[in-house]
Amino acid sequence: MTTKSIVSITDYTKDQIIGILDSAAAFEVNPNQEILKGKVAATLFFEPSTRTRLSFETAVNRLGGRIIGFSDASTTSSTKGETLNDTIRIVSNYADIIIMRHYLEGAALYASEVSPVPIINAGDGSNQHPSQTLLDLYSIRKTQGRLDNLKIAMVGDLKYGRTVHSLLMALTHFSPELFFIAPEELKMPDQYKLVCQQTGMPYTELSEFSTDIINEVDILYMTRVQKERFTDVMEYDKVKNVYTLRKSMLAGSKENLRILHPLPRVNEIDPDVDASPKAYYFEQARNGLYTRQAMICNALGLI
Ligand code: CP
Repeated sequence: MTTKSIVSITDYTKDQIIGILDSAAAFEVNPNQEILKGKVAATLFFEPSTRTRLSFETAVNRLGGRIIGFSDASTTSSTKGETLNDTIRIVSNYADIIIMRHYLEGAALYASEVSPVPIINAGDGSNQHPSQTLLDLYSIRKTQGRLDNLKIAMVGDLKYGRTVHSLLMALTHFSPELFFIAPEELKMPDQYKLVCQQTGMPYTELSEFSTDIINEVDILYMTRVQKERFTDVMEYDKVKNVYTLRKSMLAGSKENLRILHPLPRVNEIDPDVDASPKAYYFEQARNGLYTRQAMICNALGLI
């Protein structure tokens, strides 16, 4: 049985990604199993979460495992000055796997280097969110019937949004055409554009969120402006409502268009979009349960 930490989506090969998505499809058919009976998973959330923590915990519960952990680090000994190193080493005495979200980029990598049990990165700062990427890919494959050769627009906070950074890295396997729609202040960082150039992924950068783009793409991936990453609230106020998708903007869109959003949303998707058959963000969040079941079992070497 080989265990494996997952810090970045790049820790998986293309075949491993496809394998996880296939396992997730099997869990969707039969989510209640006893694969994790006798196992304990720890969820250490140093940053707030609704979907990621609860779907990971549901994944463990539905597979017969048990959960320990915290959703509020202010109740832990980190407030007394305990280091991340010590926290991880202590929790690894109690749990078979650690699922951790942290506000610092690189925290998951550091944890994986000191932990004797596998670490799953549930989001580290603006860096990576690999479990979100797996559920995004699962949602794309499920709604489009394929992952290859799709036109995908990423809209909103492309600077601080770890979900788009992770997704972009995964898409290097699937030959997409990308559209980056962001205000100047929140543009896709150069390091990710360089990845596009090096892997032959064509991309177009735009600051206007127009129906021309909406009508062209297969996937519209909306994102929230990441308030928690701004050091200056006035800078946040300048861009917080930069784009809002409304139902009227979908009138000329392709039949197969699906709107994704990692959630939570604030103002970037008007609630009048929710009833559209092209709105997929709530189903997308549900898919997180199955993909996280597959991810945990894979990390523990059980599938
Ligand atoms: N998409 C996502 O990570 O949501 P939460 O912050 O609620 O976990």
